[in-house]
Amino acid sequence: MKEISLYIHIPFCISKCYYCDFTSFAYENDKIHDYINSVLIELELYREKLKNYTIKTIFIGGGTPSSIDGKYIYEILKFIYKNFNTTGLMETTIEVNPGTLSKEKVRLYKESGINRVSMGVQTLDNNLLKSIGRIHKAEDFYKSYKLLEEVGIENINVDLIFGLPNQTIENVIDSLYKVVQVGVKHISYYGLILEENTKLYDLYNEGKLTLPDEDTEREMYHKITEYLINHGYNHYEISNYCLPGYECKHNLVYWDVNSYLGLGLNSHSYMESKRFFNTSNINNYIKKLNEKVLPIYGEEIIDQETEIEEFCILGLRKIKGIDKLEFERRFKRKIENLYGDIISKHVDNNLIVNEKDYIKLTKKGLDLSNLVEIDFLK
Ligand SMILES: C[S@@+](CC[C@H](N)C(=O)[O-])C[C@H]1O[C@@H](n2cnc3c(N)ncnc32)[C@H](O)[C@@H]1O
Ligand code: SF4
Repeated sequence: MKEISLYIHIPFCISKCYYCDFTSFAYENDKIHDYINSVLIELELYREKLKNYTIKTIFIGGGTPSSIDGKYIYEILKFIYKNFNTTGLMETTIEVNPGTLSKEKVRLYKESGINRVSMGVQTLDNNLLKSIGRIHKAEDFYKSYKLLEEVGIENINVDLIFGLPNQTIENVIDSLYKVVQVGVKHISYYGLILEENTKLYDLYNEGKLTLPDEDTEREMYHKITEYLINHGYNHYEISNYCLPGYECKHNLVYWDVNSYLGLGLNSHSYMESKRFFNTSNINNYIKKLNEKVLPIYGEEIIDQETEIEEFCILGLRKIKGIDKLEFERRFKRKIENLYGDIISKHVDNNLIVNEKDYIKLTKKGLDLSNLVEIDFLK
């Protein structure tokens, strides 16, 4: 039986953070009930298509899935267990925000089969939290973490961001020290991306915001990596670190270019050589599903050339690199036969290493990954 992963998007948040341009809003909460109903209809519409698949991982992301009543999450997962083959299910993750959990909610998550939680913490500095529009305080992280542990969910990821306005290297390491101290199993530490259509972007353009310069930002990244490696974490993807055995299986599906189906607003899917994505208009999404029509907004056929490019570019995001044997198995040729010149060029530039089984970025290459990735596009 073929394997597939499911991503389910919950676009509701309590308020909009100043840096975030994800499909999420804080002003459509009257639509929660109809939205969840639509997700269930969407799942129903995929039942026949997925009858030869077993679900490998489930990721409920957002938005803030923990901002809505836990009964909705329970309902979605129950529906999946009843209507799909989940005998091979390895990991079910939900994204939560500190301050949105209660013991009842976490118990319901556990009862629903959730065995991994990803918490958006961003920083443990209260002034910084306020300056980026977060509604929780550092203390809420500790409370939420404790609740999860008490109910028996121990596979916890924490999202942090470095390169925030006025942030120093000491501040970056201080948050890291605190989350490592409580024993989190997985850490995603992202560099701030200044996205258009966000409050931070406007403030920056009005000259009201100071961001760390590029050299400081790179130094932050190196210090984070060094700190976490010294504390027993594996650096396994550009922005991701975990204690041994706690890699995020769901995200590895993306980086390994395996199949996934996205449900909900603006969700993206990749299966059977096609990439497709849903509408990002919530009214349209609900309307289509009321009419029992899939809310797909665009699609692209992925030919082998594109699949090869994606396999290489996403493969380079993993610290162990592009799996050369898997490349040969999938594409029936050696990677060197296709990209020999490019590989030699970047080996000479000290940006990649060509090992027996993997091609991976060097330390310098991790800072300049764009230069390498671009060359893998034919
Ligand atoms: C889909 S968001 C949702 C997580 C959850 N709602 C929260 O905010 O706690 C996942 C993560 O992406 C990261 N993120 C969002 N916008 C970002 C940006 N502009 N730059 C860097 N990281 C960002 C944050 O660390 C966030 O926790
Ligand atoms: S970062 Fe998370 S909580 Fe903040 S607006 Fe984005 S999705 Fe919502």
